[in-house]
Amino acid sequence: MKVIIAENYEKQCALGADLIEAEVREKPDCCIGLATGSSPLGIYRELVRRCAEEGLDFSRVSSVNLDEYVGLAPDHEQSYRYFMDSNLFDHINIDKANTYVAKGLGNVEKNLEEFRAVLASKSVAIQLLGVGPDGHIAFNEPAEALHASAHEESIDESTIDANARFFASRDDVPRQALTMGIGEIMRAKKLLTIISGSNKEEAARKLLLEDLITPMCPVTLVKAHPDSTVILTRELADKIGYNG
Ligand code: GLP
Repeated sequence: MKVIIAENYEKQCALGADLIEAEVREKPDCCIGLATGSSPLGIYRELVRRCAEEGLDFSRVSSVNLDEYVGLAPDHEQSYRYFMDSNLFDHINIDKANTYVAKGLGNVEKNLEEFRAVLASKSVAIQLLGVGPDGHIAFNEPAEALHASAHEESIDESTIDANARFFASRDDVPRQALTMGIGEIMRAKKLLTIISGSNKEEAARKLLLEDLITPMCPVTLVKAHPDSTVILTRELADKIGYNG
């Protein structure tokens, strides 16, 4: 696993954008795996800027997203489809028909079947990952056993707490989500994990200071991927005493 310490959040995002840009330049019709949450926002701002100012071309790129809340319509402001449209897709020249976010509404089994089929048909060049405070990736919450394939997950209370800031009230946070499974995440040719913020210290410690891989902290699984890059901020590295 390659670990990069970025001087600040902006640098972290610029470096993350560099890795995604490299894939798009090398293979203009590649499939990129995308993530939601606040961590990737700076990367998306940077990709938008590079598309507008530096000719980074997404016209033939396709994408798949890690997860979606069950019960939220695509135009709900907190749905991950809405997040992706408003933070990235609406501002770059990607064909939205080539972007896939699992469906939050409708029959869960059917939606999962479609999600799994889309993932099986794609070869993801690079999968971007944020990290939950409890170490979750996508919505794979800590557990004694994790799912290989896309599935419906009950969101942990601590994740509901963490994500409540985006909703009018905690009660509005959906309790279920559809998420890629670990097998599908690990199938990406490259993984790019970005981690910053004070509530990520525990997860960062397990990821960077311990050799263990444990389903009780799902992000530790990225250590097992053959082409895995983690970018963390200097602030977080200092807080956990990680020197590279
Ligand atoms: C949500 C998403 C995760 C994301 C996490 C962390 O739970 N399902 O994919 O990594 O939030 O978000 P943030 O980057 O805002 O801390």
